[in-house]
Amino acid sequence: MVSDATTPTGSARPRNLAGSQDAYFGTRAASWTDRYQSSPSFRARLYVVGQAIDEFRHDCPQARVLDFGGGTGVFSAVASRWASFTVCVDRSLPMLTKGRADLPSMAAMLASEGFEGPLGKIARIAGDDQCVSSRHACFDLILAIAVLEYVADAKTLLTRLTQRLDQGGMLLITVPNRTSPVRIAQRIGQPLVTRRLTTTGRLTDLSFLGLRPHGDGVPWQLAAAAAGLVVERKSAVPLGLSGVRRWFHPTLLISLRRPVDHRG
Ligand SMILES: C[S@@+](CC[C@H](N)C(=O)[O-])C[C@H]1O[C@@H](n2cnc3c(N)ncnc32)[C@H](O)[C@@H]1O
Repeated sequence: MVSDATTPTGSARPRNLAGSQDAYFGTRAASWTDRYQSSPSFRARLYVVGQAIDEFRHDCPQARVLDFGGGTGVFSAVASRWASFTVCVDRSLPMLTKGRADLPSMAAMLASEGFEGPLGKIARIAGDDQCVSSRHACFDLILAIAVLEYVADAKTLLTRLTQRLDQGGMLLITVPNRTSPVRIAQRIGQPLVTRRLTTTGRLTDLSFLGLRPHGDGVPWQLAAAAAGLVVERKSAVPLGLSGVRRWFHPTLLISLRRPVDHRG
C-alpha cells in the first residue's frame, strides 16, 4: 500500500532511465488527473479506454482488476465503480499519493466525462512488475495504459502480468501508433525540442519522448506472443473527440486474452 511502499522513488535524482522517468512523472503528478478534463488527447483516451473497461463488466460483473502503471489511478477509479476489488500499482509515489488525496474530485471529473457512480475501494501499491510477480493474487482484468512505451523489457513485463491473469482473463494495453502522422511529426520535432532543452533548460510537452526506450516501436506483438496472449481486438484512440483531432489516431488500444487451458 502507499503507506508501506516497497520501492518508493518519488524524489530520486535521475541517474538512469527509470530515475529520469520517476522524476518526470513526479513533476507531472499534481496535474495528471486534471489533464483528463483539460487535454483533448487525455479526454479521448479516457473515453475510449473507459468504455472498454466498462464493456468488460458484461463479461465479468465481479471482476478483480489490476491497473499496472496506473499513475493517479484514473482507470482504477473507472473500474472500481463495479469491480469486486481494484489494485493500482505504480513505481511513482507522487502519482499514487496524489491519486489517493482527492477522490471526490476524481469522481466528479469521471462523472462529468460520462463515467458516473460512486467509486469503490482502490488498493494502491508502490512497486514495479517484480512486486506484481511476487504476489499471489489473480485478476480477471489487467490494465497497462500508456505504460509499455516506458518499459525496456516488454516481454518480461507481459509475461509477469500474464502470470497474474486468470485463464480467460483480459489484458488491456495502449501503445503508440507509429504510423500515425502525429507520431511521425513528433519524431521529426524531437531533435529540435531536445536542442532547445539543452540550450535553454526549458521543459516542453515533448520531453516524455526521450524517456521511452523503444520510441514509438514498442515490440508488443512479440511480447504478447511470448506471454501466450491472443490479440482479441485492436482499436484506435483519436487525438481528440471533436474537430480535426478526430481524424488522427496516435494511439492503439489492444485487448489481449489469456486463453483457457482445456487440457487440465
Ligand atoms: C503515462 S503514465 C500512465 C498512467 C496511467 N496509466 C494513466 O493512463 O493515467 C505511465 C505510468 O507508468 C508508471 N511506470 C512506468 N514504468 C513502470 C514500471 N516498470 N513499474 C511500475 N510503474 C511504471 C509511471 O510511474 C507512470 O505513472
